[in-house]
Amino acid sequence: MSGTIKIAPSILAADFSRLADEISKVETAGADYIHVDVMDGHFVPNITVGPPVLRSLRGVTHLPLDVHLMISDPLRYVDAFAEAGASILTVHIEAIPHIHRVLEHIRALGVRAGVSLCPATPAGALSEILEDVDLVLVMTVDPGFGGQKLIEHTLRKVRRVRNMLDKAGSAAELEVDGGVDEETAEWVTAAGATVLVAGTAIFQAPHGVAAAISTLRQAAERGRGSRKGTGR
Ligand code: DX5
Ligand code: ZN
Repeated sequence: MSGTIKIAPSILAADFSRLADEISKVETAGADYIHVDVMDGHFVPNITVGPPVLRSLRGVTHLPLDVHLMISDPLRYVDAFAEAGASILTVHIEAIPHIHRVLEHIRALGVRAGVSLCPATPAGALSEILEDVDLVLVMTVDPGFGGQKLIEHTLRKVRRVRNMLDKAGSAAELEVDGGVDEETAEWVTAAGATVLVAGTAIFQAPHGVAAAISTLRQAAERGRGSRKGTGR
C-alpha cells in the first residue's frame, strides 16, 4: 500500500440548510472527497437525498463526489447519479443479486465503481469481484444513521479485505465508514484502510472542521505508520 490516507467528510452530519458553506469549509481544510449518503427508506431505515441535490453539490466543489448508495435496486438509479456528477458510485453487495452487472455498468458510465459490505457480510463475498471494483467500502456501523459507535469486530474484516486486495495485486481503495473519530481513525488505518469517511467527527467537532480534519489525519497516519514492516 502506498500514498497517503484520504479523508472523506460525510455531509450527513452537516447543516443541510448551508451545504455549500459546509462543503467549502472542508474543501479549504484539505478534505479529499465529499461523501454523499443516499438512503431510500427501504434498504436502510432513513431517507436522505437524490440526484437533484447531487447535481447542485457538483456545482459548488472541485472535490470528487463519493456517492454511497444505500438503496435497493441500485441499477435503476446509477445513470441518474452518474449524470448528476458522481465521481465514485458505491453500491451495497446486499442490495442486488447481480452485483457484477451493476459494477460493470458504473464503469461503462465513466464513473469509479465501489462495492460496500455491511457489518454482517463476510469479506469472502468479494472474492469473485475484486477486479471489478475501484473501491471497497467496509461499513464499520450498520448503515442508516450517523453518530453511531464503530463496531470493533469490523476491524477484523478490514484486515481481511486488505489482505485480499494485496494478494490480488488490486489498487482499489479501501474505505471505512461509521464511527470514525480521532481514536478509531488510528485503528482503521492500522488495519489497512486508505479512505476514512467521517461525519460527526468533522461537522460536529467542537473546534471546527479544520482542526478536526487535521487531528483525524494525524491519527490515521499514525495507524498507517504502525503497519509498515508488519507484512500485513
Ligand atoms: C451511515 C453513513 C455514514 C455516516 C457516518 O450509514 O453511511 O457515512 O454519515 O457518520 P459518522 O461519521 O457520524 O459515524
Ligand atoms: Zn456513507
